[in-house]
Amino acid sequence: MGFPQNFLWGGATAANQYEGGYLAGGKGLSTLDAITGGSKDQPRMITFKTKEGEVQQVTRESSLPEGAVGYVDPEQYYPSHVATDFYHHYKEDIALFAEMGFNCFRFSISWARVCPKGLKEINEEGLAFYDRVIDELLKYNIEPVVTINHFDIPMYLADTYDGWSDRNVIDYFLFFCETIFKRYKGKVKYWMTFNEINFLRSWTQIGIHNSTPQSKFQAAHHLFVASAKAVELGHSINPENQIGMMVAYIPSYPMTSKPEDVWAAIEYNRQQEFYMDVQVKGYYPEHQLKKYEREGITIHKEAGDDDWIAKGTVDFIGFSYYMSTASTADPENAKYVGGNQVPAVKNPYLNESEWGWAIDPLGLRISLVQMYERYHVPLFIVENGFGAVDELTVAGTVEDDYRIDYFAKHIQCMKEAVELDGVDLIGYTPWGCIDLVSAGTGEMKKRYGFIYVDMDDQGNGTLKRYKKKSFDWYKEVIRSNGEKL
Ligand code: BG6
Repeated sequence: MGFPQNFLWGGATAANQYEGGYLAGGKGLSTLDAITGGSKDQPRMITFKTKEGEVQQVTRESSLPEGAVGYVDPEQYYPSHVATDFYHHYKEDIALFAEMGFNCFRFSISWARVCPKGLKEINEEGLAFYDRVIDELLKYNIEPVVTINHFDIPMYLADTYDGWSDRNVIDYFLFFCETIFKRYKGKVKYWMTFNEINFLRSWTQIGIHNSTPQSKFQAAHHLFVASAKAVELGHSINPENQIGMMVAYIPSYPMTSKPEDVWAAIEYNRQQEFYMDVQVKGYYPEHQLKKYEREGITIHKEAGDDDWIAKGTVDFIGFSYYMSTASTADPENAKYVGGNQVPAVKNPYLNESEWGWAIDPLGLRISLVQMYERYHVPLFIVENGFGAVDELTVAGTVEDDYRIDYFAKHIQCMKEAVELDGVDLIGYTPWGCIDLVSAGTGEMKKRYGFIYVDMDDQGNGTLKRYKKKSFDWYKEVIRSNGEKL
Protein backbone atom coordinates (compact mmCIF):
# COMPACT_ATOMS: atom_id res chain seq x y z
CA MET A 1 0.00 0.00 0.00
CA GLY A 2 1.03 3.65 -0.23
CA PHE A 3 3.38 5.09 -2.81
CA PRO A 4 5.46 2.72 -4.92
CA GLN A 5 9.03 2.16 -3.76
CA ASN A 6 10.52 3.90 -6.81
CA PHE A 7 8.28 6.96 -6.42
CA LEU A 8 10.02 10.18 -7.50
CA TRP A 9 10.15 12.81 -4.74
CA GLY A 10 11.76 16.14 -5.45
CA GLY A 11 11.11 19.77 -6.28
CA ALA A 12 10.62 21.97 -9.34
CA THR A 13 12.10 25.19 -10.71
CA ALA A 14 12.46 27.03 -14.03
CA ALA A 15 15.49 28.69 -15.59
CA ASN A 16 14.09 32.17 -15.89
CA GLN A 17 12.76 32.33 -12.37
CA TYR A 18 15.72 30.73 -10.62
CA GLU A 19 19.01 30.78 -12.53
CA GLY A 20 19.85 34.45 -12.89
CA GLY A 21 23.13 34.92 -14.78
CA TYR A 22 21.01 36.38 -17.56
CA LEU A 23 23.99 37.32 -19.71
CA ALA A 24 26.59 35.04 -18.12
CA GLY A 25 28.63 32.60 -20.18
CA GLY A 26 27.44 33.79 -23.58
CA LYS A 27 23.70 33.45 -22.91
CA GLY A 28 21.46 35.33 -25.34
CA LEU A 29 18.47 37.37 -24.29
CA SER A 30 15.19 35.61 -23.70
CA THR A 31 11.80 37.34 -23.88
CA LEU A 32 11.45 36.98 -20.11
CA ASP A 33 14.58 39.08 -19.63
CA ALA A 34 12.55 42.11 -20.72
CA ILE A 35 9.72 41.80 -18.21
CA THR A 36 9.71 43.88 -15.05
CA GLY A 37 8.59 42.92 -11.57
CA GLY A 38 5.05 43.61 -10.43
CA SER A 39 2.76 42.70 -7.57
CA LYS A 40 -0.79 41.55 -6.86
CA ASP A 41 -2.06 45.00 -7.82
CA GLN A 42 0.51 46.10 -10.34
CA PRO A 43 1.01 44.10 -13.54
CA ARG A 44 4.41 43.09 -14.88
CA MET A 45 5.42 45.15 -17.90
CA ILE A 46 7.18 44.17 -21.12
CA THR A 47 9.73 46.80 -22.17
CA PHE A 48 10.41 47.17 -25.88
CA LYS A 49 11.55 49.52 -28.63
CA THR A 50 9.18 50.44 -31.43
CA LYS A 51 10.20 50.37 -35.08
CA GLU A 52 10.92 54.08 -34.67
CA GLY A 53 13.28 53.38 -31.77
CA GLU A 54 11.02 54.70 -29.01
CA VAL A 55 11.19 52.88 -25.66
CA GLN A 56 7.72 51.83 -24.49
CA GLN A 57 6.06 49.32 -22.21
CA VAL A 58 2.84 47.30 -22.11
CA THR A 59 1.37 44.83 -19.66
CA ARG A 60 2.57 41.29 -20.21
CA GLU A 61 -0.77 40.09 -21.62
CA SER A 62 -0.93 42.87 -24.23
CA SER A 63 0.08 42.77 -27.85
CA LEU A 64 3.23 44.57 -29.01
CA PRO A 65 3.19 46.84 -32.06
CA GLU A 66 4.38 45.26 -35.28
CA GLY A 67 8.14 45.46 -35.63
CA ALA A 68 8.71 46.09 -31.91
CA VAL A 69 11.78 44.44 -30.40
CA GLY A 70 12.29 43.45 -26.78
CA TYR A 71 14.49 45.91 -24.90
CA VAL A 72 16.25 45.73 -21.55
CA ASP A 73 15.90 49.25 -20.20
CA PRO A 74 18.74 50.27 -17.83
CA GLU A 75 16.20 52.40 -15.92
CA GLN A 76 14.14 49.35 -14.91
CA TYR A 77 14.56 46.48 -12.47
CA TYR A 78 14.15 42.99 -13.91
CA PRO A 79 13.85 40.29 -11.23
CA SER A 80 14.92 37.40 -13.46
CA HIS A 81 18.35 38.86 -14.19
CA VAL A 82 19.71 37.63 -10.87
CA ALA A 83 16.65 35.72 -9.63
CA THR A 84 17.91 33.51 -6.79
CA ASP A 85 21.13 32.83 -8.64
CA PHE A 86 21.17 29.08 -9.12
CA TYR A 87 23.79 29.86 -11.75
CA HIS A 88 26.35 30.51 -9.03
CA HIS A 89 24.78 28.49 -6.18
CA TYR A 90 23.95 25.21 -7.90
CA LYS A 91 26.36 23.12 -5.80
CA GLU A 92 25.09 24.48 -2.52
CA ASP A 93 21.44 24.14 -3.61
CA ILE A 94 21.80 20.60 -4.92
CA ALA A 95 23.51 19.61 -1.67
CA LEU A 96 20.47 20.96 0.20
CA PHE A 97 18.09 19.06 -2.10
CA ALA A 98 20.11 15.91 -1.44
CA GLU A 99 19.92 16.57 2.28
CA MET A 100 16.11 16.66 2.00
CA GLY A 101 16.33 13.28 0.30
CA PHE A 102 15.26 14.31 -3.22
CA ASN A 103 15.59 11.48 -5.71
CA CYS A 104 14.59 13.77 -8.59
CA PHE A 105 14.81 17.46 -9.43
CA ARG A 106 12.85 19.29 -12.10
CA PHE A 107 14.47 22.28 -13.83
CA SER A 108 14.34 23.80 -17.28
CA ILE A 109 17.14 24.34 -19.75
CA SER A 110 17.25 27.89 -21.03
CA TRP A 111 17.02 27.78 -24.83
CA ALA A 112 18.82 31.15 -25.07
CA ARG A 113 21.70 29.86 -22.91
CA VAL A 114 22.25 26.91 -25.26
CA CYS A 115 21.39 28.66 -28.55
CA PRO A 116 21.75 32.40 -27.80
CA LYS A 117 19.65 33.54 -30.76
CA GLY A 118 17.57 30.39 -30.92
CA LEU A 119 19.25 29.61 -34.25
CA LYS A 120 21.37 26.56 -35.06
CA GLU A 121 24.43 27.88 -33.24
CA ILE A 122 25.49 26.30 -29.97
CA ASN A 123 26.95 28.16 -27.02
CA GLU A 124 29.33 25.57 -25.54
CA GLU A 125 29.65 27.53 -22.31
CA GLY A 126 25.90 27.39 -21.81
CA LEU A 127 25.85 23.63 -22.27
CA ALA A 128 28.81 23.32 -19.93
CA PHE A 129 26.70 24.91 -17.17
CA TYR A 130 24.00 22.23 -17.59
CA ASP A 131 26.72 19.54 -17.74
CA ARG A 132 27.85 20.68 -14.29
CA VAL A 133 24.30 20.81 -12.92
CA ILE A 134 23.38 17.36 -14.23
CA ASP A 135 26.63 15.78 -13.04
CA GLU A 136 26.13 17.32 -9.63
CA LEU A 137 22.60 15.86 -9.44
CA LEU A 138 23.79 12.44 -10.54
CA LYS A 139 26.54 12.55 -7.91
CA TYR A 140 23.73 12.42 -5.31
CA ASN A 141 21.62 9.93 -7.30
CA ILE A 142 19.08 12.63 -8.05
CA GLU A 143 17.25 11.94 -11.30
CA PRO A 144 17.15 15.08 -13.48
CA VAL A 145 13.67 15.91 -14.81
CA VAL A 146 14.05 18.43 -17.61
CA THR A 147 11.47 20.86 -18.95
CA ILE A 148 12.79 21.66 -22.40
CA ASN A 149 11.00 24.99 -22.62
CA HIS A 150 9.48 26.89 -19.70
CA PHE A 151 7.53 30.04 -20.62
CA ASP A 152 10.03 31.88 -22.86
CA ILE A 153 11.73 31.99 -26.23
CA PRO A 154 15.07 33.46 -27.35
CA MET A 155 14.35 37.12 -27.98
CA TYR A 156 15.89 37.02 -31.44
CA LEU A 157 13.25 34.50 -32.56
CA ALA A 158 10.49 36.71 -31.13
CA ASP A 159 11.89 39.84 -32.80
CA THR A 160 12.79 38.33 -36.15
CA TYR A 161 10.25 35.55 -36.69
CA ASP A 162 7.31 36.67 -34.53
CA GLY A 163 8.03 33.62 -32.41
CA TRP A 164 5.88 30.53 -32.72
CA SER A 165 3.60 32.10 -35.30
CA ASP A 166 6.33 31.17 -37.79
CA ARG A 167 6.71 27.51 -38.75
CA ASN A 168 10.48 27.87 -39.08
CA VAL A 169 10.69 28.04 -35.31
CA ILE A 170 9.74 24.34 -35.17
CA ASP A 171 13.02 23.49 -36.83
CA TYR A 172 15.07 25.71 -34.55
CA PHE A 173 13.39 24.16 -31.53
CA LEU A 174 14.16 20.67 -32.81
CA PHE A 175 17.81 21.61 -33.22
CA PHE A 176 17.85 22.66 -29.56
CA CYS A 177 16.11 19.40 -28.59
CA GLU A 178 18.52 17.27 -30.59
CA THR A 179 21.47 19.05 -28.99
CA ILE A 180 20.34 18.34 -25.46
CA PHE A 181 18.93 14.83 -26.15
CA LYS A 182 22.33 13.81 -27.54
CA ARG A 183 24.38 15.61 -24.94
CA TYR A 184 22.47 14.12 -22.01
CA LYS A 185 21.82 10.68 -23.44
CA GLY A 186 22.07 8.18 -20.60
CA LYS A 187 22.04 10.99 -18.01
CA VAL A 188 18.55 12.44 -18.39
CA LYS A 189 15.61 10.12 -18.87
CA TYR A 190 12.57 12.31 -17.98
CA TRP A 191 11.75 15.23 -20.26
CA MET A 192 8.75 17.49 -20.83
CA THR A 193 8.40 19.54 -23.99
CA PHE A 194 6.51 22.78 -23.12
CA ASN A 195 5.60 24.01 -19.66
CA GLU A 196 1.86 24.64 -19.17
CA ILE A 197 1.18 24.50 -22.89
CA ASN A 198 -2.43 25.55 -22.30
CA PHE A 199 -1.25 28.95 -21.00
CA LEU A 200 1.03 29.85 -23.90
CA ARG A 201 -0.36 32.91 -25.65
CA SER A 202 1.72 36.07 -25.11
CA TRP A 203 4.89 37.69 -26.43
CA THR A 204 6.93 36.70 -23.39
CA GLN A 205 5.86 33.07 -23.59
CA ILE A 206 5.87 32.36 -27.32
CA GLY A 207 7.16 35.52 -28.93
CA ILE A 208 4.03 36.49 -30.88
CA HIS A 209 3.44 40.24 -31.17
CA ASN A 210 -0.28 40.19 -31.80
CA SER A 211 -2.08 37.83 -29.48
CA THR A 212 -5.49 36.99 -30.98
CA PRO A 213 -7.39 33.68 -30.91
CA GLN A 214 -6.22 33.10 -34.50
CA SER A 215 -2.52 33.72 -33.74
CA LYS A 216 -2.65 31.86 -30.45
CA PHE A 217 -4.18 28.69 -31.92
CA GLN A 218 -1.94 28.79 -35.00
CA ALA A 219 1.05 28.99 -32.66
CA ALA A 220 -0.45 26.14 -30.60
CA HIS A 221 -0.52 24.02 -33.75
CA HIS A 222 3.17 24.71 -34.31
CA LEU A 223 3.86 23.83 -30.67
CA PHE A 224 1.96 20.53 -31.08
CA VAL A 225 3.91 19.60 -34.20
CA ALA A 226 7.18 20.61 -32.53
CA SER A 227 6.35 18.61 -29.42
CA ALA A 228 5.34 15.51 -31.41
CA LYS A 229 8.52 15.68 -33.50
CA ALA A 230 10.57 16.16 -30.33
CA VAL A 231 8.99 13.05 -28.81
CA GLU A 232 9.89 11.02 -31.91
CA LEU A 233 13.39 12.45 -32.00
CA GLY A 234 13.96 11.84 -28.30
CA HIS A 235 12.83 8.23 -28.61
CA SER A 236 15.04 7.67 -31.63
CA ILE A 237 18.10 9.08 -29.86
CA ASN A 238 17.45 7.02 -26.76
CA PRO A 239 14.52 4.58 -26.53
CA GLU A 240 14.84 4.80 -22.74
CA ASN A 241 13.69 8.43 -22.77
CA GLN A 242 10.35 9.16 -21.15
CA ILE A 243 8.98 12.29 -22.77
CA GLY A 244 5.92 13.98 -21.39
CA MET A 245 3.70 16.98 -22.00
CA MET A 246 2.95 19.55 -19.30
CA VAL A 247 -0.39 21.17 -18.64
CA ALA A 248 -1.73 23.54 -15.99
CA TYR A 249 -4.67 21.63 -14.58
CA ILE A 250 -7.35 23.69 -12.87
CA PRO A 251 -10.48 21.55 -12.52
CA SER A 252 -13.67 23.55 -12.61
CA TYR A 253 -16.80 22.53 -10.70
CA PRO A 254 -20.30 23.60 -11.66
CA MET A 255 -21.30 26.42 -9.31
CA THR A 256 -24.70 24.71 -8.79
CA SER A 257 -26.47 21.62 -10.08
CA LYS A 258 -28.24 23.81 -12.66
CA PRO A 259 -27.58 22.12 -16.02
CA GLU A 260 -26.37 25.45 -17.47
CA ASP A 261 -23.68 25.64 -14.78
CA VAL A 262 -22.71 22.03 -15.44
CA TRP A 263 -22.36 22.91 -19.12
CA ALA A 264 -20.22 25.95 -18.29
CA ALA A 265 -17.88 23.67 -16.32
CA ILE A 266 -17.65 21.22 -19.23
CA GLU A 267 -16.68 24.07 -21.54
CA TYR A 268 -14.09 25.38 -19.09
CA ASN A 269 -12.50 21.97 -18.61
CA ARG A 270 -12.40 21.30 -22.33
CA GLN A 271 -9.98 24.18 -22.76
CA GLN A 272 -7.33 22.29 -20.83
CA GLU A 273 -8.36 18.80 -21.96
CA PHE A 274 -7.93 19.90 -25.56
CA TYR A 275 -4.15 20.18 -25.11
CA MET A 276 -4.01 16.74 -23.49
CA ASP A 277 -6.23 15.19 -26.16
CA VAL A 278 -3.87 16.33 -28.90
CA GLN A 279 -0.67 15.33 -27.14
CA VAL A 280 -1.84 12.10 -25.51
CA LYS A 281 -4.46 10.78 -27.93
CA GLY A 282 -2.79 12.23 -31.01
CA TYR A 283 -5.65 14.15 -32.62
CA TYR A 284 -7.67 17.34 -32.31
CA PRO A 285 -10.98 16.70 -30.49
CA GLU A 286 -14.10 17.37 -32.55
CA HIS A 287 -15.37 20.13 -30.24
CA GLN A 288 -12.19 22.13 -30.82
CA LEU A 289 -12.52 21.84 -34.61
CA LYS A 290 -16.14 23.00 -34.31
CA LYS A 291 -15.01 25.93 -32.19
CA TYR A 292 -12.50 26.93 -34.89
CA GLU A 293 -15.26 26.73 -37.50
CA ARG A 294 -17.65 28.84 -35.40
CA GLU A 295 -15.07 31.46 -34.53
CA GLY A 296 -13.55 31.72 -38.01
CA ILE A 297 -10.17 30.41 -36.90
CA THR A 298 -8.21 28.73 -39.70
CA ILE A 299 -5.30 26.54 -38.77
CA HIS A 300 -2.71 26.38 -41.52
CA LYS A 301 -1.33 22.87 -41.55
CA GLU A 302 1.23 21.25 -43.79
CA ALA A 303 0.84 17.77 -45.22
CA GLY A 304 2.03 15.30 -42.64
CA ASP A 305 1.27 17.46 -39.59
CA ASP A 306 -1.63 15.26 -38.50
CA ASP A 307 0.53 12.15 -38.91
CA TRP A 308 3.25 13.67 -36.77
CA ILE A 309 0.73 14.55 -34.08
CA ALA A 310 -0.66 10.99 -34.22
CA LYS A 311 2.81 9.43 -34.01
CA GLY A 312 4.45 11.71 -31.48
CA THR A 313 2.18 11.08 -28.50
CA VAL A 314 3.73 11.50 -25.08
CA ASP A 315 4.78 8.87 -22.53
CA PHE A 316 3.28 10.63 -19.54
CA ILE A 317 1.32 13.69 -18.47
CA GLY A 318 3.17 16.16 -16.27
CA PHE A 319 0.89 18.74 -14.72
CA SER A 320 0.73 21.58 -12.24
CA TYR A 321 -1.99 21.62 -9.66
CA TYR A 322 -2.41 24.56 -7.31
CA MET A 323 -6.12 25.28 -7.22
CA SER A 324 -9.57 24.55 -8.57
CA THR A 325 -12.26 26.95 -9.73
CA ALA A 326 -16.01 27.08 -10.34
CA SER A 327 -18.04 27.71 -13.48
CA THR A 328 -21.31 29.52 -13.83
CA ALA A 329 -23.68 30.30 -16.67
CA ASP A 330 -23.80 33.85 -15.36
CA PRO A 331 -20.15 34.94 -15.29
CA GLU A 332 -20.98 38.67 -15.24
CA ASN A 333 -22.51 38.36 -11.80
CA ALA A 334 -19.96 35.98 -10.35
CA LYS A 335 -17.43 36.91 -7.69
CA TYR A 336 -13.82 36.54 -8.82
CA VAL A 337 -10.66 35.74 -6.89
CA GLY A 338 -7.04 35.58 -8.07
CA GLY A 339 -5.73 32.60 -9.94
CA ASN A 340 -2.92 30.97 -11.86
CA GLN A 341 -2.38 33.33 -14.83
CA VAL A 342 -6.11 34.18 -15.06
CA PRO A 343 -8.69 35.22 -12.42
CA ALA A 344 -10.99 32.45 -11.21
CA VAL A 345 -14.62 32.34 -10.11
CA LYS A 346 -14.86 32.14 -6.32
CA ASN A 347 -16.00 28.79 -4.95
CA PRO A 348 -17.93 29.60 -1.75
CA TYR A 349 -16.79 26.34 -0.15
CA LEU A 350 -13.07 27.08 -0.39
CA ASN A 351 -10.59 29.51 1.15
CA GLU A 352 -7.85 31.14 -0.85
CA SER A 353 -4.18 32.01 -0.41
CA GLU A 354 -3.21 35.65 -0.02
CA TRP A 355 -2.95 35.80 -3.83
CA GLY A 356 -6.50 34.48 -4.20
CA TRP A 357 -5.68 30.91 -5.28
CA ALA A 358 -8.36 28.51 -3.99
CA ILE A 359 -7.00 25.86 -1.61
CA ASP A 360 -8.53 22.51 -2.55
CA PRO A 361 -6.62 19.32 -1.66
CA LEU A 362 -9.47 17.04 -2.72
CA GLY A 363 -9.35 18.79 -6.08
CA LEU A 364 -5.96 17.14 -6.56
CA ARG A 365 -7.47 13.66 -6.13
CA ILE A 366 -10.30 14.66 -8.43
CA SER A 367 -7.78 15.85 -11.03
CA LEU A 368 -5.71 12.68 -10.81
CA VAL A 369 -8.77 10.49 -11.22
CA GLN A 370 -10.21 12.56 -14.07
CA MET A 371 -6.95 12.54 -15.98
CA TYR A 372 -6.06 8.94 -15.37
CA GLU A 373 -9.45 7.59 -16.30
CA ARG A 374 -9.52 9.69 -19.45
CA TYR A 375 -5.98 9.02 -20.69
CA HIS A 376 -4.62 5.99 -18.87
CA VAL A 377 -0.98 7.07 -19.06
CA PRO A 378 1.37 7.62 -16.10
CA LEU A 379 0.88 10.95 -14.34
CA PHE A 380 3.53 13.16 -12.76
CA ILE A 381 2.61 16.09 -10.49
CA VAL A 382 5.42 18.41 -11.49
CA GLU A 383 4.12 21.49 -9.65
CA ASN A 384 2.06 22.03 -6.52
CA GLY A 385 2.60 24.49 -3.70
CA PHE A 386 1.57 27.40 -1.57
CA GLY A 387 2.74 30.93 -2.38
CA ALA A 388 2.94 32.93 0.85
CA VAL A 389 4.74 35.77 2.59
CA ASP A 390 7.43 34.23 4.79
CA GLU A 391 9.11 35.96 7.71
CA LEU A 392 12.70 35.03 8.44
CA THR A 393 13.07 34.77 12.24
CA VAL A 394 16.11 35.90 14.24
CA ALA A 395 16.97 32.21 14.58
CA GLY A 396 17.37 32.11 10.78
CA THR A 397 14.37 30.00 9.86
CA VAL A 398 10.74 30.42 8.77
CA GLU A 399 7.90 28.93 10.81
CA ASP A 400 5.87 28.01 7.74
CA ASP A 401 3.23 25.76 9.31
CA TYR A 402 0.71 27.05 6.72
CA ARG A 403 2.86 25.51 3.97
CA ILE A 404 3.24 22.21 5.84
CA ASP A 405 -0.53 22.10 6.29
CA TYR A 406 -1.11 22.73 2.57
CA PHE A 407 1.35 20.02 1.52
CA ALA A 408 0.21 17.45 4.09
CA LYS A 409 -3.39 17.70 2.88
CA HIS A 410 -2.43 17.55 -0.78
CA ILE A 411 -0.08 14.59 -0.34
CA GLN A 412 -2.78 12.76 1.63
CA CYS A 413 -5.24 13.17 -1.28
CA MET A 414 -2.56 12.14 -3.75
CA LYS A 415 -1.96 9.01 -1.69
CA GLU A 416 -5.65 8.18 -1.73
CA ALA A 417 -5.68 8.50 -5.51
CA VAL A 418 -2.85 5.96 -5.68
CA GLU A 419 -4.07 3.57 -2.97
CA LEU A 420 -7.81 3.73 -3.43
CA ASP A 421 -8.31 4.76 -7.04
CA GLY A 422 -5.38 2.94 -8.61
CA VAL A 423 -3.91 5.98 -10.34
CA ASP A 424 -0.46 5.39 -11.85
CA LEU A 425 1.37 8.36 -10.32
CA ILE A 426 5.13 8.36 -10.83
CA GLY A 427 6.31 11.40 -8.94
CA TYR A 428 5.80 14.65 -7.11
CA THR A 429 7.90 17.80 -7.43
CA PRO A 430 6.55 20.72 -5.36
CA TRP A 431 6.98 24.08 -7.06
CA GLY A 432 9.77 26.43 -6.14
CA CYS A 433 11.31 23.99 -3.68
CA ILE A 434 13.72 26.85 -3.09
CA ASP A 435 12.44 30.45 -3.23
CA LEU A 436 12.44 31.96 -6.69
CA VAL A 437 10.78 34.75 -8.68
CA SER A 438 7.01 34.45 -9.12
CA ALA A 439 6.03 33.96 -12.75
CA GLY A 440 2.69 35.70 -12.36
CA THR A 441 3.67 38.77 -10.38
CA GLY A 442 7.47 38.90 -10.64
CA GLU A 443 7.66 39.13 -6.87
CA MET A 444 10.11 37.53 -4.45
CA LYS A 445 7.58 38.22 -1.72
CA LYS A 446 5.41 35.35 -2.96
CA ARG A 447 7.48 32.42 -1.77
CA TYR A 448 7.01 28.69 -2.25
CA GLY A 449 10.25 27.13 -1.04
CA PHE A 450 11.40 24.77 1.67
CA ILE A 451 14.54 26.91 1.49
CA TYR A 452 14.40 30.66 2.05
CA VAL A 453 16.62 32.87 -0.09
CA ASP A 454 17.53 36.35 1.12
CA MET A 455 16.40 38.48 -1.81
CA ASP A 456 13.64 41.08 -1.98
CA ASP A 457 11.47 42.68 -4.66
CA GLN A 458 13.97 45.47 -5.32
CA GLY A 459 16.95 43.17 -5.79
CA ASN A 460 18.41 43.66 -2.31
CA GLY A 461 19.66 40.65 -0.43
CA THR A 462 22.67 38.48 0.26
CA LEU A 463 21.23 35.44 -1.57
CA LYS A 464 22.04 33.44 1.55
CA ARG A 465 20.01 30.23 1.93
CA TYR A 466 18.09 29.30 5.13
CA LYS A 467 16.14 26.12 5.89
CA LYS A 468 12.47 26.73 6.68
CA LYS A 469 10.54 24.54 9.12
CA SER A 470 9.04 22.76 6.10
CA PHE A 471 12.54 21.63 5.06
CA ASP A 472 12.78 19.03 7.83
CA TRP A 473 9.12 18.17 7.47
CA TYR A 474 9.48 17.36 3.75
CA LYS A 475 12.66 15.42 4.47
CA GLU A 476 10.65 13.16 6.77
CA VAL A 477 7.87 12.80 4.18
CA ILE A 478 10.41 11.59 1.64
CA ARG A 479 12.20 9.33 4.14
CA SER A 480 8.90 7.64 5.03
CA ASN A 481 7.84 7.49 1.33
CA GLY A 482 4.84 9.66 2.07
CA GLU A 483 3.70 7.84 5.19
CA LYS A 484 4.60 10.51 7.74
CA LEU A 485 2.64 13.63 7.01
C1 BG6 B 1 3.00 27.76 -12.90
C2 BG6 B 1 4.30 27.95 -13.64
O1 BG6 B 1 2.02 28.46 -13.58
O2 BG6 B 1 2.87 28.25 -11.61
C3 BG6 B 1 5.46 28.45 -12.80
O3 BG6 B 1 4.67 26.81 -14.35
C4 BG6 B 1 4.94 29.42 -11.76
O4 BG6 B 1 6.41 29.01 -13.65
C5 BG6 B 1 3.98 28.68 -10.86
O5 BG6 B 1 5.93 30.06 -11.03
C6 BG6 B 1 3.45 29.51 -9.70
O6 BG6 B 1 2.91 30.69 -10.16
P1 BG6 B 1 3.36 32.09 -9.59
O7 BG6 B 1 2.69 33.08 -10.45
O8 BG6 B 1 2.90 32.12 -8.18
O9 BG6 B 1 4.84 32.11 -9.69
